[in-house]
Amino acid sequence: MARIRIAAAADVPPGAMVSAQAGEVQVVVCNEDGALHAFKDECPHRNAPISQGNFVDGRLICPWHAWEFRCADGCYDYNPEIQLQRYAVTVEDGAIYIDA
Ligand code: FES
Repeated sequence: MARIRIAAAADVPPGAMVSAQAGEVQVVVCNEDGALHAFKDECPHRNAPISQGNFVDGRLICPWHAWEFRCADGCYDYNPEIQLQRYAVTVEDGAIYIDA
């Protein structure tokens, strides 16, 4: 497992999401009310890039079929057993890092 810098924390304010390459993996980071969460940028339904959808009211909305995933835990709202793949997030010296 490697610790990978994703972005400056200032570039992901509350209500924002960003996509970034983290080694071999594309990730999406969302900020819900100051809490940062990171996921593999891939929908568990048909593998759409989640970051090309919307982030509204704490939910990441898939661009292809509009499944909604909670930013707080990555769970699909109709079936919490279906989840985005999560990564641990840390902020240090003004930068966001994930363990991937
Ligand atoms: S690919 Fe995401 S909802 Fe279908």
